[in-house]
Amino acid sequence: MRFGVLAATLLSTAVVRADVADDLEDAAGHASMSASSFVESVTSSALSKPTFTPTKLKAPFLEQFADDWETRWKPSHAKKQNDKSTEEEWAYVGNWAVEEPSVLKGIQGDKGLVIKDKAAHHAISAKFPKAIDNTKNTLVVQYEVKLQDGLECGGAYMKLLQDNKELQSDEFSNASPYVIMFGPDKCGATNKVHFIFRHKNPKTGEYEEKHLKNPPMARIVKTTSLYTLIVNPDQTYQIKIDGESMRNGSLLEDFTPSVNPEKEVDDPNDRKPEDWVEEARIPDPEATKPEDWDEDAPYEIVDEEATKPDDWLEDEPTMIPDPEAEKPEDWDDEEDGDWIPPMVPNPKCDEASGCGPWTQPMKKNPAYKGRWSPAYIENPAYKGVWAPRKIANPDYYEDPTPANFEPIGAIGFEIWTMQKDILFDNIYIGHSVADAEKLKKETYDVKIASEKAEEAATKPKTEDTPPKSPMDLKFKDDPVLYIREKLDLFLTIAKKDPIQAVKFMPEVAGALGVTALTVLALLISLVGLGGAAAPSKEQIKDAAQKAKETAVDVKDQAAEAVSSGAEKAQAELNKRNTRSQKVDS
Ligand SMILES: *[C@@H]1O[C@H](CO)[C@@H](O)[C@H](O)[C@H]1NC(C)=O
Repeated sequence: MRFGVLAATLLSTAVVRADVADDLEDAAGHASMSASSFVESVTSSALSKPTFTPTKLKAPFLEQFADDWETRWKPSHAKKQNDKSTEEEWAYVGNWAVEEPSVLKGIQGDKGLVIKDKAAHHAISAKFPKAIDNTKNTLVVQYEVKLQDGLECGGAYMKLLQDNKELQSDEFSNASPYVIMFGPDKCGATNKVHFIFRHKNPKTGEYEEKHLKNPPMARIVKTTSLYTLIVNPDQTYQIKIDGESMRNGSLLEDFTPSVNPEKEVDDPNDRKPEDWVEEARIPDPEATKPEDWDEDAPYEIVDEEATKPDDWLEDEPTMIPDPEAEKPEDWDDEEDGDWIPPMVPNPKCDEASGCGPWTQPMKKNPAYKGRWSPAYIENPAYKGVWAPRKIANPDYYEDPTPANFEPIGAIGFEIWTMQKDILFDNIYIGHSVADAEKLKKETYDVKIASEKAEEAATKPKTEDTPPKSPMDLKFKDDPVLYIREKLDLFLTIAKKDPIQAVKFMPEVAGALGVTALTVLALLISLVGLGGAAAPSKEQIKDAAQKAKETAVDVKDQAAEAVSSGAEKAQAELNKRNTRSQKVDS
């Protein structure tokens, strides 16, 4: 309660204005975030994690982003297209890094390729040692995607690039011809795992993108997701996510526009005859308006039978000046004019049937008929919907083997995304379903178990209890969530009325004392005790800096608080491990 009293004192002396409160929220949010990320790291480092060992599997292209990755991958320096004035600018300014995950790390020492900038275009590619020819073969494309910062709007798909002489990794761009595009793409409500292949029309030599009609949805989680595409020599394909089969089908049936055009098309020269009748029903030409049909009768008329209720208060006004309103102390008659209390509804009217002059109400007119129109009948001249006659398609061709993709020379990521920290890893491009599965066992299966163990250890148990309001949270259940939620609510109330906030959430003052409230109180004391004048930007910045420093001290105290939580998490993990060993043996 010590902190509660302190905070109450500080808050009552502070003048918290909305704009100042916003700055406070930023600074305090920052402080509580650093405390929470520390809580996260304390908890996660208490869990033991497997260590990375490179795979011994071989494939035409297999990438685990070990130390020699830069010998293969080259970020694109392609210039912006159609813009001569900015000749020097690269279109792809987004940075790439190869690093370990920063969120829910699964395997120690396991690095991946990471998109480093939000709201930026990124492009990077890697040439294959030898072009991959899939003629009469199975193509297996598999890779991991880890959305460390979630995904609101952006792509996480890969492109397999056409092998041609101009395959210049430095110039890789959206214009580089690809053979297959595969992987997640999300923006708002649109969420799909693309499978698009470019198909050459054997008659015209032109390429067309063939899109999977019914793509599965991407998994928007912070743990790793594994995307697998298998295209078989019999023209069937399968898409798997996390090893689970999501789609089966045929390249010849499930794509739009379809690989092979229709055998017959509408004759473009066929015209609808002038006298063709397409109206199935028409107004009855024989019908006439009945004599007694009055189109002018109004919809509503005055209810002549209505009488004024006995308790109607004819002399009471419906609105009165607010009797409780008082002239503000700082009201200046000279400057502000005469003070007039605001009007409020007359409470006497609520108790009676009504106030003011009484008039007879309106009622629905029984004589109302509206505009007359004839009834509809079947059209005796109706010939049906006209359609042009079919002729043989002059552009017809049949490619029975679209799965014989053109040679693939490289892989590239060419992406725009609102969210950064998307991580790619364990890319397999080859012909063996079995090897891709083996790689999954060695990598994805190991890391997902470890990631989920950490997630379970740091998350509150929400399976059996519905989401709680911030008021029901307990510090020990989930310190991270507790700090965030409580502080949020506290600040929301404090913005409106600081004293009310402390009264309403005394336990925030008490339990949160060692963490966020210390910082909050400090902030308010720094910006608020100077007097009634609003603090300057400098003062706020200064306060935010001091708050950050305080947050470091706060961390030590938070560590103590979570150590028991971390022990619990380790015990939970041990239980899981023992259980899965039992299942395995
Ligand atoms: C696709 O086919 C495979 C093999 O027959 C089957 O195991 C899998 O469940 C199928 N997937 C879907 C989504 O139907």
